[in-house]
Amino acid sequence: MKKALMLMLIALIAVTSVFAQGGAEGTASDVVLNRDKPLVFFNRQPSDPVSGEIDMETMNWNDKTYYVGFDAVGGGVVQGQMIVDYLASADPAKLDRNGDGVIGYVLCIGDVGHNDSRARTQGIRQALGTWAGSTDPGVSQQGSANVGGTTMPVVEIDSRAMTGTDGSTWNANAATDAMGNWATQYGTQIDMVISNNDGMAMGCLQASNYPTGVPIFGYDANADALEAIAQGRLTGTVSQNADAQAEATLQTLRNLLDGLTGADVYTKGFTEPDQWGNQISATVDYDAENKALLAANEAVTIANVDRLLSGARDEGIKQSEAPVVDVLLTIYNSADNFLSSNYLPALNYYAPLMGINLTVVQGDGQNESSCLDRFTNLSNFDAYAINMVKTNSGPDYTSRLQY
Ligand code: BGC
Repeated sequence: MKKALMLMLIALIAVTSVFAQGGAEGTASDVVLNRDKPLVFFNRQPSDPVSGEIDMETMNWNDKTYYVGFDAVGGGVVQGQMIVDYLASADPAKLDRNGDGVIGYVLCIGDVGHNDSRARTQGIRQALGTWAGSTDPGVSQQGSANVGGTTMPVVEIDSRAMTGTDGSTWNANAATDAMGNWATQYGTQIDMVISNNDGMAMGCLQASNYPTGVPIFGYDANADALEAIAQGRLTGTVSQNADAQAEATLQTLRNLLDGLTGADVYTKGFTEPDQWGNQISATVDYDAENKALLAANEAVTIANVDRLLSGARDEGIKQSEAPVVDVLLTIYNSADNFLSSNYLPALNYYAPLMGINLTVVQGDGQNESSCLDRFTNLSNFDAYAINMVKTNSGPDYTSRLQY
């Protein structure tokens, strides 16, 4: 009985709030409960932080729930291959700094519970033969690689999850400190530095004792990393195409709010123009099993950095006449370099063109509550886009969308 009363009350509030919003042609039948609204997760795929298994319960919250990201596993392979390619054309005498016949590298891990981070650690270790069946820090075996025509042993000297003093992950300052310590401790044993992302790679380069000229690889193709590649300070990175992902997040929401269903949700505006004439130029594949739209990865080195440095936006998206909709979007950490310098500016650029009015709330990267506390006034929004602090926090968000 109590529950029935509660439900009636909530329904009444929802109806009132639609009319209060000016609910245009609002009639009672227009009222959409929060639980029936589009919900797109992005960048942090709902999944188990240990096993990496996709949280399909969250993904099946309603038929308008999707994930937008990029091919994480494929990205790890691209990063590993980029390093292998670099080694194949390197001069062993120059690369092997202490001349001990062994290529030693150190590895910055972003977040042991994040599938992007894990995919990169695995991709790197598998490419170098140092994979010992685990993405944990410190778990590796001796590998080997072709260095300029000579097969040389490869050793992961050290690896560490870069957690900040505040508990936040992918922390660039932690990487600066770690690199400083590694350079002191291991000296010329370090022939290469590899990082799960650009933020931490750039953090390593900040260490005052960074061994000049030692090759270093990141991931993300952030603007400062691209510049560092052009200047010869960073050796390579991988673009996960943040632009395409931001567009895909918005396009998916747009399609769902335009009432599209089935394959139209992930083809309109992707493989063919949407009803407003917009179409994303990059390829975004649909993975039906996981309800995921995934952008492709591309290795970036001095050979192709110029094209990315131009920072050109996608001309496939133009100002549309789509009616304006309101979307609440969370970002797990306002200090995350990739999201704040790469993804968010893209969202802010494309959203108005697609008729999407974004309200962005940002957390502190460590406490889910820093986002959840601002995941409020939910009835005021037509749809939600979520980037969680922890990849297994999906239910904390969906439980708030019940009514
Ligand atoms: C990016 C990292 C970023 C993380 C945030 C990853 O895909 O490569 O740079 O810190 O997403 O969730």
